[in-house]
Amino acid sequence: MNAPLRVAVLGSTGSIGRQALDVAARFPERVRIVALAANRSGALLAEQARLFDVTDLAVADPTCAPCGDDLPRGAECATGAAAVVALAVHPDADVVLNALVGAAGLRASEAALVAGKRLALANKESLVVGGELLMALAGGAATTVSADTRLIPVDSEHSAIFQCLVGEPRAAVARIWLTASGGPFRGHSRAQLDTVTREAALAHPRWTMGPKITVDSATLMNKGLEAIEAHHLFGTGYDAIRVVVHPQSVVHSMVEFVDGSVKAHLGATDMRVPIQYALSHPDRWDAPCEPVDFVTLGHLDFEEPDPVTFRCLALALEAGRTGGTLPAAMNAANEVAVAAFLEGRLPFTGIDRVVATVMEAHDTQPVSSFDQLEMVDSWARDSARLLY
Ligand SMILES: NC(=O)c1ccc[n+]([C@@H]2O[C@H](COP(=O)([O-])OP(=O)(O)OC[C@H]3O[C@@H](n4cnc5c(N)ncnc54)[C@H](OP(=O)(O)O)[C@@H]3O)[C@@H](O)[C@H]2O)c1
Repeated sequence: MNAPLRVAVLGSTGSIGRQALDVAARFPERVRIVALAANRSGALLAEQARLFDVTDLAVADPTCAPCGDDLPRGAECATGAAAVVALAVHPDADVVLNALVGAAGLRASEAALVAGKRLALANKESLVVGGELLMALAGGAATTVSADTRLIPVDSEHSAIFQCLVGEPRAAVARIWLTASGGPFRGHSRAQLDTVTREAALAHPRWTMGPKITVDSATLMNKGLEAIEAHHLFGTGYDAIRVVVHPQSVVHSMVEFVDGSVKAHLGATDMRVPIQYALSHPDRWDAPCEPVDFVTLGHLDFEEPDPVTFRCLALALEAGRTGGTLPAAMNAANEVAVAAFLEGRLPFTGIDRVVATVMEAHDTQPVSSFDQLEMVDSWARDSARLLY
């Protein structure tokens, strides 16, 4: 057997991070965790460090560092945003799993790619904000998916598309079908959305995820972010990306080829599957969950999304088509608005109002650097905060 894959998990205390450690625990001979990072969950980080015997740790918030007695012998926990990014270039890491949430993950993605690491990317906001620059660092949207592909998506839809593309020439792709569950408010009218609560927005019908992506799924912003992510990852134009609502979330996405054939990826709604594939690629390891039983399932449904009611989907697609710095501004406004909604300071339909207003005010420029994108991000956050 090969030497174990050495993995740095950034965002290890979150939904994706904890599931990644679950995969690592199932395959101790194949995966070794070499670094862990979080924002504020110092106690959980320390527990994970003890469990996986990890000595290189970081927390972004300096007030939340775990104390020395809680850590394994020889372990150190550095603090601050730069300390989290530093673990993306950890000399022992073969793979960096970026499971941070929001644009806060951008610099870690950049650092990992510059350092020549394989990047297993859950942090979709990295690609939304800096897709042009990150894909250039990753060697571009490859013409075929191969064993040495540098950037491997963890998002279930993109992992599905990636797996459908194995062995296929990229020129043969006619269309990507991006499936969406529709979220907890599928079928709601705009008037009904005006009064939905935080608790209802957090009750996703199919997936258990962190709070930000769960709200993004309820507004359909998540599907817009994913369309931008797919555009960058697979070099696909927006006219060739079609969003389709599929409430069962069994088909994780599909690729249509020029000859009319369609390949779909189907499976359980369990994020450990795409996380595991991002580590095992091009191999496959034993399933972490029960496979789908198609007889029990019975049928699969597909519907048109409603971008008029769920305006965030239309706004994100507009930002993606416009390109330049607009997706970065849109993303930052959305992060601020979602946080305000979760804190009870903005109604659900206020989220798209804030995003639309910031997008209108933004003077879109061609993307030139990560520093420029961070300035746009910061401007958009300040602008969004003035709107509620
Ligand atoms: N959850 C899913 O099923 C799923 C599916 C597909 C894609 N994704 C994507 O994966 C990413 C993570 O999602 P999630 O649901 O796992 O989020 P989550 O549960 O909120 O976890 C986020 C993780 O990032 C850490 N973090 C947050 N801000 C940070 C900062 N500024 N510096 C350092 N660490 C920070 C958090 O630390 P603390 O615990 O200390 O706050 C936590 O470990 C997102 O981009 C999401 O869109 C998630």
